[in-house]
Amino acid sequence: MSAGRLNVRVARRTSEAEDICSYELVSADGTPLPAFSAGSHIDVHIGPDLVRQYSLCNPPHETHRYLIGVLRDPASRGGSQGMHEKIHAGAALTISAPKNHFPLVEAQRSLLLAGGIGVTPVLAMAEALSAQGADFEMHYCARSPERAAFRERIAASPFAAQVHFHYDSGAAEQKLDLAALLAGLDRDTHIYFCGPAGFIDYVKATAAARQWPQAQLHLEYFGAVAVDTGGDRAFEVRLSSTGANYTVPAGVTVMQVLREAGVFVAASCEQGVCGTCLTRVLEGVPDHRDLYLTEEEQAANNQFTPCCSRSKSPTLVLDL
Ligand code: FES
Repeated sequence: MSAGRLNVRVARRTSEAEDICSYELVSADGTPLPAFSAGSHIDVHIGPDLVRQYSLCNPPHETHRYLIGVLRDPASRGGSQGMHEKIHAGAALTISAPKNHFPLVEAQRSLLLAGGIGVTPVLAMAEALSAQGADFEMHYCARSPERAAFRERIAASPFAAQVHFHYDSGAAEQKLDLAALLAGLDRDTHIYFCGPAGFIDYVKATAAARQWPQAQLHLEYFGAVAVDTGGDRAFEVRLSSTGANYTVPAGVTVMQVLREAGVFVAASCEQGVCGTCLTRVLEGVPDHRDLYLTEEEQAANNQFTPCCSRSKSPTLVLDL
């Protein structure tokens, strides 16, 4: 096994909701798995050159298993479809050790907001906060009850009364009214939210309208944001180590061009979410299209994600 990688076996695969399966992973040799904290994810090597990130959703004190939830996404480029179609109980998988870009912090009170499959890290947070006896509530938005995963588990949990479900298919009065919810919360509440881009934007905008302190907002996107690529043009990248120039045509990523030229850049999600491919920019202005860097980090223009970001200037000089 290479460094940082773990060999696991799918002990159980369970249909949790329409188009959502959970996978219970145990170590191949029966030893305990590395401990993790709520909000952590693992890289799952689904096939050659196909790595995807999935949040761990089991209680974080567990070391005998990792539980992930996977939504079958019709727009998937192989990741979620590959999991649903090819990975069954008994399958051997290689995964990374858990990493956490979405940790809980010390807080008097926490509000957990989940949109769709974004429930996975949020559920681990609810488990952790409940075990600590912390003050929290959770709101889970899904298209319909049939598409809401882990409902039975939540109903049977000690924190069931702290979880509120909101369905797009349901009556108007049960839908999440975040402005009203925030109006009734103490200002020192930390807000954690995970879901698709539309959900994240809604929470961000509502929190901004109430001037919620930025340091108390913690978010993780699920999946990449659709970007308008209609105006994309070719540009050059130059490697500072060799001075070699490469043309990046419209419709092709910097990473694809570099790979083609035999230049190695570490990658994982290849959709601007994980930060694995982060590369220093020495000259030029990147056209940032990732969800990994903060707005301030993007504005600094000294690093970018070659798996999805492009260039606003004719040339980008990279620290490669
Ligand atoms: S590989 Fe994940 S951000 Fe580029």
